[in-house]
Parts: sequence; C-alpha cells; structure tokens
Amino acid sequence: MAVLITGGAGYIGSHTCVELLNANYEIIVLDNFSNSKPEAIKRIKEITGRSFTFYPIDLLDEDSLDKMFRENDIEAVIHFAGLKAVGESIDFPLTYYSTNIISTLTLCTIMQRHHVKNLVFSSSATVYGTPETFPISEKNPLGALNPYGRTKLMIEEMLKDLYQSDQDWSISILRYFNPVGAHDSGLIGEDPNGNPNNLMPYITQVAIGKLNELSVFGDQYPTADGTGIRDYIHVVDLALGHLKALEKTALSSGVEVYNLGTGKGYSVLEMVKAFEKASGKQVPFKIVSPRPGDVAICYANPDKAKVGLGWIAKKQIDEMCEDAWRWQKKNPNGYSKNYNLDRPYLTGEGFFVGNK
Ligand code: NAD
Ligand code: UFG
Repeated sequence: MAVLITGGAGYIGSHTCVELLNANYEIIVLDNFSNSKPEAIKRIKEITGRSFTFYPIDLLDEDSLDKMFRENDIEAVIHFAGLKAVGESIDFPLTYYSTNIISTLTLCTIMQRHHVKNLVFSSSATVYGTPETFPISEKNPLGALNPYGRTKLMIEEMLKDLYQSDQDWSISILRYFNPVGAHDSGLIGEDPNGNPNNLMPYITQVAIGKLNELSVFGDQYPTADGTGIRDYIHVVDLALGHLKALEKTALSSGVEVYNLGTGKGYSVLEMVKAFEKASGKQVPFKIVSPRPGDVAICYANPDKAKVGLGWIAKKQIDEMCEDAWRWQKKNPNGYSKNYNLDRPYLTGEGFFVGNK
C-alpha cells in the first residue's frame, strides 16, 4: 500500500517525501513541474537512498489520474499540489480557482471512485483573514483577503461536505503558518521563481548578493519594533506534522483541522537579525510602505496538533536560518543550471517556460 503525494516536487512536498521515505513508507509522487523542477525528485532519492514511482501529470487531467489509481494500490493521499502566490492570484483568479479547486475536486472524485478515503490537505493560516485575537486557534473566525485564500477556504468547506456525505472519509486539514528553512543536507529547499515574494528567500538572496537589499514592508504596525510578526516554522517540522496526520487519518474517520505552527511570533527585523547571526552575513534593508493585504500579526496556537496528533515543532529560529542559508549557498540558482532559460511563468493563457 502506498501514499500518493501530489505536488511532491515542490518545497513542502519534497521535504515530506524525504520524511515519509525515512519512515519506510512506500510513496508515489505526482507533479506537473509548474512550480518545481525534476531535479528535486532526483535529490529526494539521493538523500534517502530510496526509489519511488514518479508521475509527471497534471491533477486536472482526470484520465491520467484515474489510470494512476488503477495502476497502484494507494491507501492515502497527501495533497500539496496547487498555486500559492497571493499577488498572482489577484492577477489570475481564474487560473487559481481552476488549479486549486477543480484539481482538488478531480482528485477527490477519483479517490472516491477507487475507495481511497484518507486525505491530508495543505491549507494555510491565510484562512484566518485579519485575525483579531492571538494566538490563533482553529476556532478563530475565518475569512479570505484574496483569491488564493478563498480557494483554501472553499476547499476546506468542500472537504467538510464530502465527509458529511460519506463518513468513511478521514480528512486532516493542516493550516500551515510560515514555512522556512531547508533539509540539513542542503540538497532540497525553497526555489522561488523570479524575485521571491516571501521574506526568508528574499533575505537569503540578499545575503548571497543576488539582490541588493531587503525592503521591509512597514514599520508602524502595533508590534514592539513596528514590523510584521509571523510564526515561522521549519519545513522539516512541518513535514513531520504530515506523518502524524497520516497516522491519525489511517486510524479514524472524520474531518479535523489542525494549525501547524510553533506558537511563537518573530518580527521582520528579528528575522533579519537571526539570519545575520546564523550566516555571518549582513542583510542591508530599507523600510518601505506596508504591502497591501498584509496583516500585522499572525501566530498559532498549536495545542490541538499537540494533543490530537502528538506533534510539536521542535526546531528553533537559528536552525531555520542556518538551514535556509546552507541551501542558498550550495544552490545559488536553486535547482536550475541556467536560471533564465528554464523558469516556468504564468500568464492568463497558462504556463510558459523560458524568458518572459
Ligand atoms: P510549491 O509551489 O513549492 O509546491 C506545489 C507543487 O505543486 C509544485 O511542485 C507544482 O509544480 C505542483 N503543482 C501545481 N499545480 C499542479 C497541478 N495542477 N498538477 C500537478 N502538480 C501541480 O508550494 P509549497 O510551498 O510546497 O506549498 C505546498 C502547498 O502548501 C500548497 O497547496 C500551498 O498553497 C500550501 N501552503 C504553502 C505555504 C507556504 O508558505 N509555502 C503556506 C501555507 C500553505
Ligand atoms: N516581508 C517584508 N519584505 C519582503 C517580504 C516579506 O518585509 O520582501 C514581511 C511581510 O510584510 C510579513 C513578513 O515579512 O510581515 C512575512 O511575509 P511573507 O511574504 O514571507 O509571508 P506572509 O505571512 O505574508 O504569507 C505567507 C504565504 C501565504 C500564506 C501565509 C500564511 O506567502 O501564502 O504565509 O501561511 F498564506
């Protein structure tokens, strides 16, 4: 019996594949490489010394998905595949709705057809909209600030309806806070397309000299130093949370939501300092206007995952920064040999590869 990982070549998926293989799971991985590289698959094999079947298919391709389920004995699915850039989702909402929602709909339809009813789904702290109370528990009010967030909310609702209709389903919805860092081998890590949107990859690219300086988005938030606070979680801790969720879904039916975070928030300037200490590099920065849509503070109450899954995040901020820096130093261009020529990019018409 195998676990299917959708989006397994991506940032969180690749780290989860490694932890599953290390724990002796048999896995099957699917990805269309719209935001990742085949090299990631090679490196998962290199780190673990284990082999697995990879399917280069698009989740929207129902026939190929159905064939894959016929060819394999799949007992559970961890569903990472999807698009995740907030700004892009505002420019291309239809692509986000079809990639995130229709693909999940297709996946669940095929799972039901093949009587595979154990699912772990990647949701996001973005479903808490603009939180007003902290730390954020699973009972906080929900809301979406952009099309990306709305796709996650809609999928959560869809999964709850699915369980209502058939109580053989066992579904864990994991709301991630801010994943950072990389595997300590330095072989896999986050490989954003173009200029990074997220803080940690931006910092590492400034430190390595690819970017001149960090723009800190606002210093007038109601926080100690005025910059935004987030709950940064090491991607390997996050990956291990999926193993716990998988064990849980195998043992019981139901639909449960869990926050995966550390419970501790760091400001942007605290992150810059922690990174400088871990790397020995200076990270020049300037303060600019707040980024539209950003919330001031976001950090988790992770108690439900501790009690319900027996999971806590163990890695501290120093390790997150050291591992992110090792990955960046060993792979200045991410997984690409020629950065400019083989990057996928999104337009209203779909994905293209090459120079824009
Ligand atoms: P990622 O882009 O690195 O990985 C997603 C993978 O899915 C990529 O390899 C991409 O090629 C693949 N994919 C996309 N559409 C596909 C399709 N139609 N068919 C097949 N493969 C497809 O992103 P990630 O950071 O690893 O995120 C994984 C999941 O976690 C996403 O659902 C994301 O929304 C969610 N999430 C991420 C974060 C974060 O900050 N990284 C935070 C909260 C939630
Ligand atoms: N920031 C900067 N400069 C940058 C990038 C970010 O100052 O160049 C600041 C932001 O304003 C924010 C903090 O750093 O205060 C973190 O920003 P990120 O973009 O790294 O992360 P977000 O919390 O904005 O969003 C991320 C994902 C979302 C996801 C959310 C919650 O990008 O998709 O975490 O999981 F929904």
